[in-house]
Amino acid sequence: MTMHSSARALKKPARLDDEVRFLRSWIEKPLHMGAVMPSGKFLARTMAQYVDVDSTGPVVELGPGTGAITSALIDHGVDPKRLVLLEFDPGFCALLRERYPQAKVVQGDAYRLRDTMWKVLPEPATAIVSGLPLVTKPMLTRMKLVRDAFNLLEPGAPFVQFTYSVAPPIPKSLPGVDTEASERIWMNIPPARVWVYRKR
Ligand SMILES: C[S@@+](CC[C@H](N)C(=O)[O-])C[C@H]1O[C@@H](n2cnc3c(N)ncnc32)[C@H](O)[C@@H]1O
Repeated sequence: MTMHSSARALKKPARLDDEVRFLRSWIEKPLHMGAVMPSGKFLARTMAQYVDVDSTGPVVELGPGTGAITSALIDHGVDPKRLVLLEFDPGFCALLRERYPQAKVVQGDAYRLRDTMWKVLPEPATAIVSGLPLVTKPMLTRMKLVRDAFNLLEPGAPFVQFTYSVAPPIPKSLPGVDTEASERIWMNIPPARVWVYRKR
């Protein structure tokens, strides 16, 4: 084992501890959390695979929570220095700073993306990966989030969102937007699907 991989192994989140943290937050703020446990590794890997590791821009994660998708992004080959983690919950922010010291952790509201990110992003993002419980928000709020996300992304770069719902979290047919979806990921509790939106 190299120094690098042993350091990474030590920092691997403890799944059971994270489930307890998650459950506690869900009991306090169920709509804000939108899930009773962190994403499973199949879902997290599927989210990460849409990120181009060869491009060099920042990779923004919305609602990283305890870091299930963050770890998958790093395992996929994203340099942690490229990560910008935008999380509302200050407790999760502290945990993320400890776990991913090279990433930029921003405490703030993803639904105010433009205000939150303009000072933080040095250049257009390569991808925005969202674990937000988007379907708990009205459609207008979701559409505004995606519009603001497209303004922060390189042209054609992906906005990646998972959902437990059968329906897509953002309509499939938007003018000027290409949409794709993963297979349903049954190895997740609850089963989920990943949706990817790219502005032409
Ligand atoms: C469904 S959990 C997903 C956590 C993690 N990405 C995962 O997949 O395990 C939703 C996360 O979004 C965060 N969140 C909810 N609303 C937010 C907001 N307006 N801005 C930033 N983060 C938010 C919650 O605190 C929580 O960490």
